[in-house]
This record gives sequence, structure tokens and C-alpha cells, in this order.
Amino acid sequence: MAATSATNFSIRSPTSFGSQVGLNSQSKTFGVRLNSKNCLKRFSGLNLAASFSCNLGLSFLGKEGIATLQESCVPKAQKQSHGSEYRLQPPESYKVAILGAAGGIGQPLSLLVKMSPLVSALHLYDIANVKGVAADLSHCNTPSQVLDFTGASELADCLVGVDVVVIPAGVPRKPGMSRDDLFNINAGIVKNLVEAVADKCPDAFIHIISNPVNSTVPIAAEVLKQKGVYDPKKLFGVTTLDVVRANTFVAEKKNLRLIDVD
Ligand SMILES: NC(=O)c1ccc[n+]([C@@H]2O[C@H](COP(=O)([O-])OP(=O)(O)OC[C@H]3O[C@@H](n4cnc5c(N)ncnc54)[C@H](O)[C@@H]3O)[C@@H](O)[C@H]2O)c1
Repeated sequence: MAATSATNFSIRSPTSFGSQVGLNSQSKTFGVRLNSKNCLKRFSGLNLAASFSCNLGLSFLGKEGIATLQESCVPKAQKQSHGSEYRLQPPESYKVAILGAAGGIGQPLSLLVKMSPLVSALHLYDIANVKGVAADLSHCNTPSQVLDFTGASELADCLVGVDVVVIPAGVPRKPGMSRDDLFNINAGIVKNLVEAVADKCPDAFIHIISNPVNSTVPIAAEVLKQKGVYDPKKLFGVTTLDVVRANTFVAEKKNLRLIDVD
């Protein structure tokens, strides 16, 4: 169950990436949200500040996600000489690549990443239809620069210097398709993509969304081992959907508030 106490967390980014973070443990707000008025006002371009706030006790991130978020910022906190506000230097900016960015998962995921003040560059790769997605996202007035890459010949360029790779490329399961069918298609796609990741950005964190995740992640691990760049702390299978689904179903069955189930 989620904790009921709340901590307000906000990030401000006065320039593109010299961001500062304010932690105010006094205030109590509800849920995770883009603090629309302030956020959007401050988030409008490189010269203005960006901010978001989230309730650290009552969020869909869950306790673990919140702890990770806190950890990534709090060690760099420096208490200001006045008041209880902490000024934080977030880690330097990140270059993120999304492989399969034009798909049903890739497009909303790309938008979410584009909203992050911690991202300096967003590389969108797909075998088709990615130019329009990138053009639309590039119009969002957040700091990251959006670049598009189409087809295998542009994959290497997409991955150079990237810190985080997210892979939703592949096919979703369609009616009549078994998980084996899905595996046969997506295994090959993930293998090829991870080979390129190993060659071009071997230190990157890799998040695999393509299903079946419990098979595509081991495939990725084997590829990375063969290339001599496997780091188990940097390879992830994304199961958020399963987690939030389970939370929703438990809440429905037990007649609980969604926010109380984690
Ligand atoms: N892990 C999870 O919780 C979770 C949740 C939802 C979906 N998924 C999985 O994510 C995958 C994508 O789902 P979707 O709904 O976005 O499907 P989709 O068909 O809408 O999109 C897939 C995208 O991948 C692209 N693609 C195909 N082959 C590629 C390749 N070799 N290189 C780069 N891009 C390639 C396609 O062009 C398409 O744009 C599926 O495998 C689905 O099962 C996982």
C-alpha cells in the first residue's frame, strides 16, 4: 500500500541543463502531476525555468520509483542558508534514444521523455513514419533537441553517445497470435537493435519494452555478453504496464481507492 504522507518535490530548470531542484518537505500536495500553470510557464524554452512537482507519497511511481527519483537528486542537495529549501544540481543531462518511436507505445513514450528537463537530446528511431513524430515533438518548448532516424542505415548515428536506450520496437500480439509467434518476430528485432547498441553506446542503460519481455531481455543479455559489454545493472525489462494493471484490478476487486494500492 502506498504511504499516506506526502512530500512535495519540484524541479526547476532556469537554463537548458543547469537545472536546480527544490525539495520542500513541508507542503502536501496530491498525486504526481505537471504543475500546469507554473510548470508550463516556466517550461517554455531555454531561457525560462522548468518545473514539475509530484507528491512523493501518493503517486503511480510507487515507493520504489519514488525512492529512485529521490536518490538520483538528493545526494547532490545543498541546504540553502535560509529556509528549509534544498537546491539540487541534478545529474548532467541525458541523451535518450527510443527505438521503435513511431509505434503505439513509442509515440506517447517519446512525448513523456520530451517533457523531462533532464533530457538534452531525444533520438527517435524507427523503420518507418518517424519523421512526422519527431517534427511534432520538436515543437514542444522543452529543452531537449529531437532528431529522427529512419531505417537500418541510420541506426548507428542514432545511437552515438546515447546514455539511455528504450526499445518498444516490434509487433504487439494480435488476435490468433501466440506468444511464440510474438517471440519469433520480436526476438530478431531486439537482437539486431541491441547489437547496434553494444557497438555504438555500450555504456548506455537499456530498457526493453518489446514483448515477451521475459524472453527479449535474456536475448539482449546474451548479445551484450557476446560483445563483452554486459552489465546486469544497466539492462532492464519494462513491466510497468503489468504493475499498474495489477494495482487497478486489485483495487477493483477489493473496492479500494486506486491510490491506496501499490
Ligand atoms: N512491456 C510492456 O509492458 C509492454 C506494454 C505494451 C506493449 N508492449 C510491447 O511493445 C511492443 C510495441 O507495441 P506497440 O503497440 O507500440 O506496437 P506498434 O506496432 O504500434 O509499434 C511498433 C513499432 O516498432 C517499429 N518497428 C518494427 N520493427 C522495427 C525495427 N526492426 N526497428 C525499429 N523499429 C521497428 C514499427 O515500425 C512500429 O512503429 C510490442 O512488442 C508490445 O507487445 C510491451
